[in-house]
Parts: sequence; C-alpha cells; structure tokens
Amino acid sequence: MHKCVGVRHAMTAERLGADIVEVVGFEAAGHPGKDPIGSFVLFPQAVDAVKLPVVAAGGIGDARGVVAAFALGAEGVCLGTVFMATQECPIHPNLKQRLIEARETDTMLTFYSKGDPMRALRNPLTIQIQEMEEKGATMQDIIAVIGGGKGRHAAAVGEADWTILSIGQVVAQIHDVPTVKELVDRIMDEVTDVQERLSNTLSGRG
Ligand SMILES: Cc1cc2nc3c(=O)[nH]c(=O)nc-3n(C[C@H](O)[C@H](O)[C@H](O)COP(=O)(O)O)c2cc1C
Repeated sequence: MHKCVGVRHAMTAERLGADIVEVVGFEAAGHPGKDPIGSFVLFPQAVDAVKLPVVAAGGIGDARGVVAAFALGAEGVCLGTVFMATQECPIHPNLKQRLIEARETDTMLTFYSKGDPMRALRNPLTIQIQEMEEKGATMQDIIAVIGGGKGRHAAAVGEADWTILSIGQVVAQIHDVPTVKELVDRIMDEVTDVQERLSNTLSGRG
C-alpha cells in the first residue's frame, strides 16, 4: 500500500505497481502535502483516476466520516488523529485534554516553506516556527529553537504549548478518551445508524 497526498501521486503509485493507494486530504495530521485539496474533493478524484482500491485518510473522526468516505468511492479508511485521544495512546494526559479542548481551527501547518508541511496543534511553539519561516529562517535556524530534546521533554511532562503535536482538523470531533475498542465499537455501531438515516433521507422517507 502506498500513501499519497494527491491524485497524480496515486497514479504514479499505480503505474509503479502498488496494490492499494491511500490518499490523504489536506485536513489530515502528519504530512498532508502542499496542495490544499480537502478530502471531500480528493477522495472521488483519486477513485476516478486509478483502478486500485483507495483507502481514504484525513478528516475522518466518526461514523459519518467513514460512511462519507465509502460514499465517495473509498474501499477503506485510515483514522489517525482520533486515536491520539485513546486510553492506549502513550501521550501525557494533559495533551489528551488539550485535544478535547481543540476546535477545527486549532491546527496549522509547520514547515510549509521547507516543502513538506506538517499539520500540528496551533500553540506558541508552532506559531514561533511559522513566524521564523516567514522571516526566511533555515531549517538549521528552526532546529536550534526546537531541537535538543526540548519538544520531547515538553511532551513528556505534558506541556502542550511547547511541543509539536501532530493532529488534524478532525480533532474537533474528540470529546472524550475512550479505549481503542470503545472508539472502534462506537464508530461501527453508529455506522448502522448513519446508513439508516441516509437511506430514509435519500428515499424521501426521512
Ligand atoms: C501523531 C501522528 C503521527 C503520524 N505520523 C505519521 C507518519 O510517521 N507517517 C505517515 O505516513 N503518517 C503519519 N500520520 C498520519 C496518519 O497516518 C494519517 O494519514 C492521518 O492521521 C489521517 O488523518 P486524520 O489525522 O485526519 O485522521 C500521523 C498522524 C498522527 C496523528
């Protein structure tokens, strides 16, 4: 399975022999690429462009997102951000609390000027990095500020302001800290409700 941030990359992966492509919308955590194409547009475009099964990633946080991704033609889904707020995720409880408080507007892209942006929680550290980038800072300049284990230490002691916490916009859908099993069961249970509601709405009964 090859992970891609755009349609043309998915087509290249197919040409080079991948079995499955995973496409990542711009709202995702991690490295969503430089083209600001959201999942709602990206997924069907990728599905139309390749014959391979497409796994959809980016912005999926609950059953509605899962059903939407399948409706857009995906054959699988990948969720990242919402698993950060699970009991099993080995991050400090303060960071999980910050995820519960965060809204869809509380992420930003760091390292955009360096060619491989990373979506992370908007906090004083990521704002500082963005300001340095705007002033033309090199990667070495930025590493001098964020390196030396400072971010790792901040994360370990639960200082959400001073670490780069990679999360996607779907963080807004985090309201509690379930176990992984509870999260997956909840999503799968709600898929049935969403399907029923859709079927009623689309058939004119809802
Ligand atoms: C903390 C964190 C670390 C991640 N690290 C990677 C990584 O090393 N490589 C990668 O391809 N994707 C990474 N991702 C991205 C996920 O695999 C996935 O594509 C993404 O989280 C899906 O979007 P969502 O966050 O909106 O659910 C990471 C995501 C999170 C939340």
